[in-house]
Amino acid sequence: MSDDLNTLKQRALADFAEFVNPMKVRTMKAAGIDLIEERRDGACTWDLTGKRFIDCQTGSGIMNVGRHNREIVEALKKALDTYDIGVFLVCSRQKADLARKLAEITPGDLKCTVYGAGGGEAVDAAIKIARGYTMKTEIVYADKAYHGHTGFALSAIGRAAYKEPFEPLMPGFKQVPFGDAQAVREAMSADTAAVILEPIQGEGGINVPPDDYLPEVRRLCDEHEALLILDEIQTGFARTGRMFACEHWGVVPDILTLAKSLGGGLYPISATVFKEEINDFFIPHPFVHLSTFGGSDLGCIVALAVIDYIEKNGLAEHARLMGERFRAGFDRLTAAYPDLLLEVRQKGLMMGLQYTNTSIGPRMTKKLADRGVLAIYTGNDPSICRLMPPLVITPAEVDEVLAALEGAMRELSGEKGLGKDD
Ligand SMILES: Cc1ncc(COP(=O)(O)O)c(C=O)c1O
Repeated sequence: MSDDLNTLKQRALADFAEFVNPMKVRTMKAAGIDLIEERRDGACTWDLTGKRFIDCQTGSGIMNVGRHNREIVEALKKALDTYDIGVFLVCSRQKADLARKLAEITPGDLKCTVYGAGGGEAVDAAIKIARGYTMKTEIVYADKAYHGHTGFALSAIGRAAYKEPFEPLMPGFKQVPFGDAQAVREAMSADTAAVILEPIQGEGGINVPPDDYLPEVRRLCDEHEALLILDEIQTGFARTGRMFACEHWGVVPDILTLAKSLGGGLYPISATVFKEEINDFFIPHPFVHLSTFGGSDLGCIVALAVIDYIEKNGLAEHARLMGERFRAGFDRLTAAYPDLLLEVRQKGLMMGLQYTNTSIGPRMTKKLADRGVLAIYTGNDPSICRLMPPLVITPAEVDEVLAALEGAMRELSGEKGLGKDD
């Protein structure tokens, strides 16, 4: 490693500690992931010092089309020759084209779109639309849920630590255990505006619900004339082996929130897509939910290029196949290291390793980073390692990640502190 590059890296870390947050730098160093990203390509990212990592973190699933995808970069460069973000108050061809495309690829009769610039904003819009349209107030959400840190979204997060410093939050939010349809039934009332769920919880630990869960919640929403909001900000755009995760269970929500991979890791954009009848609420007051940067013309061009890339390259099917390749390796690891690995939860390339205790996540994160794999334990639970590599990952790279996991587990199995937490 050249001294100059290392000096640059240390300066970036020191400045980050001084001018952003010293605790963040300390945490990253302790976990062995104090990298400063420089080059990015395909499934990989390179530290400023030249060390290569296979990126299984990807900003929790932003990079479905791969890091710095050349085709999307070219689409953005071309757009920059002519366009800027556009004026959010006026109509644009790009906004119309993307909304039409979203109506085409989202399941069932989802049709109309409100744009935003980030995921939390998309969730806020969904909850506002649900309240405005139904003229009811209650929102039912799941424990361990993650929907972002903005106002309404934060109120629907199932992790107290994120919420407590800011209480009181929005009234009318009821938390239920995830995966338990009976609990949803008991929580719902004549005043329930919506139930909001991730089809598979990401930040909560890659929690895949029982197969009858989403269909039953759909039925309960219909029975109570409440809306079903599915947050596919992490699961969407082919991550789970289908374009949208709800397709695994044949469930069509009334409102679908999308962000992260929609922008291809190159431009922030989010979308709240909903059924046509819900537009009855927006038609009389089209300016009730505005976002200056939401659905910018450049963002829409990038999003259209992303969707085109996913479709053209069959990334949903590739995610399914690479998911199976991972699964075979995980099965071997579960059999070989029962003291370390309790279970694997997975749909396509949305994968979570449930370790036997909370000390293992941070220790594995460091050992994997040493071996050139970026894979971090989830915010909600350090006993879970989330693996969400770019969907363009190759079979050879899958094998590399599995070899790194095997090497890290072999090393860890000789250390103390394995087995279940007391
Ligand atoms: C399921 C889900 N919803 C919402 C969000 C919030 O998105 P953003 O960070 O863009 O506000 C996230 C972010 O991780 C997410 O995973």
